Amino acid sequence: MPGSGVDFNGLFGVNTPPRPDTVNPLTQRFKYDFAIAFADPGTFPSADLHKALGRALEEEGGDLAYYPHPQGHPAMRELLASTLDQGRGMKLSPDQITLTAGSMQALVLLTELFVDPGDTLITEEFLYMGTIRVMRRFKANIVGVGTDSQGMRPDLLEERIEELRAGGARIKFIYTVPTFENPLGTDMGLQRRLDILSVAQRSGIPILEDDCYVDLRYEGEASPSIYSLDDSGSVMYCGSSSKIIGPGMRLGWVAGPREVIERVGTIQLGATPSQFSVLAALHYLRESREEHISELTRVYKSRRDTMLAALGEHFGPGAVTSRPDGGMFLWVKLPEGTDTPALLGKAKAKDIRYGPGPIFSPSGEGANYLRLAYAHLDEDVIGEGIAELAKVFEAEGVLG
Ligand SMILES: Cc1ncc(COP(=O)(O)O)c(C=O)c1O
Repeated sequence: MPGSGVDFNGLFGVNTPPRPDTVNPLTQRFKYDFAIAFADPGTFPSADLHKALGRALEEEGGDLAYYPHPQGHPAMRELLASTLDQGRGMKLSPDQITLTAGSMQALVLLTELFVDPGDTLITEEFLYMGTIRVMRRFKANIVGVGTDSQGMRPDLLEERIEELRAGGARIKFIYTVPTFENPLGTDMGLQRRLDILSVAQRSGIPILEDDCYVDLRYEGEASPSIYSLDDSGSVMYCGSSSKIIGPGMRLGWVAGPREVIERVGTIQLGATPSQFSVLAALHYLRESREEHISELTRVYKSRRDTMLAALGEHFGPGAVTSRPDGGMFLWVKLPEGTDTPALLGKAKAKDIRYGPGPIFSPSGEGANYLRLAYAHLDEDVIGEGIAELAKVFEAEGVLG
């Protein structure tokens, strides 16, 4: 006799988030898709990755018959340690690095590790919506700090920390993307990094430095990572191959003080990224990293310029755009009173999508801002799409 079945809704844990009420944007595609920042399919190195994987399987394929190292492939961690040392001046031993399924998993693990419900995390005033989702998932109180052309302002950070502490907040870490912040595109100079670090050290609050865009620099001087400037063991660091190979690889990493990395293992429980993907990336990056990055930055710079020119032509003086020295997107300010979330439906009806400002704000601010990703789009598509988007906004009286 058939039973009445299981009522799963009565079984989910008390901390399980409710059923999502919107479609996951990653499952949708649009002709003019400015919303999601991802790698360019045209320069994606399929053939070289294929060869790299072939070499990897010949040399060490038998190892796939066994479980990977709980922190991820040792040779990949050695390669990362030496790349981070040469490129970013970071002194790390491979055992201070754990591989993760994209840097998203690094963010999940570190947030889970530190946050009890109600704990405070400090961030830039606008930040990657994935990070906001993770922090909300663990019921953190997310406090955004004001920014300027170099990102988070140290004076405001210090003020915020004092206010929060006076109110009894338990601040667990300061999350920052110092290089090509998502969505602002800001890049902290050396002094700014030192100032942020100094506030953190004086307050006894660790920094989580998310450096996933660092390799996508096409202009300007690179500043050292905050991690490399710290001599007090106060900085945790995460990075990703998503921006230099592609997010489909799902390969990221978390690095930092041993006591933190050891604890990461206690909650990651060996769920490191696929060794298959790691092997391909390892052999590929050893051979082709520099060459591929210089190709990407050449292509992305030109796309940035195309998008800037198209915005100048079609959006006119009503729009103020960022001009980042690297990364994958622009941040656009429209006249006060513009409602980019409400206008998104009109844009979608024309097969255009963008990132409306409030999704990047912990407090839902920024309705007159939008983020436009360009890295994955051909230049003619960028030009056409921006012209079409301007028509949508003009029809709604936004661009005057
Ligand atoms: C600042 C930042 N951190 C982390 C991620 C997560 O990327 P992934 O999990 O693909 O490494 C992203 C993705 O866009 C990002 O912008």
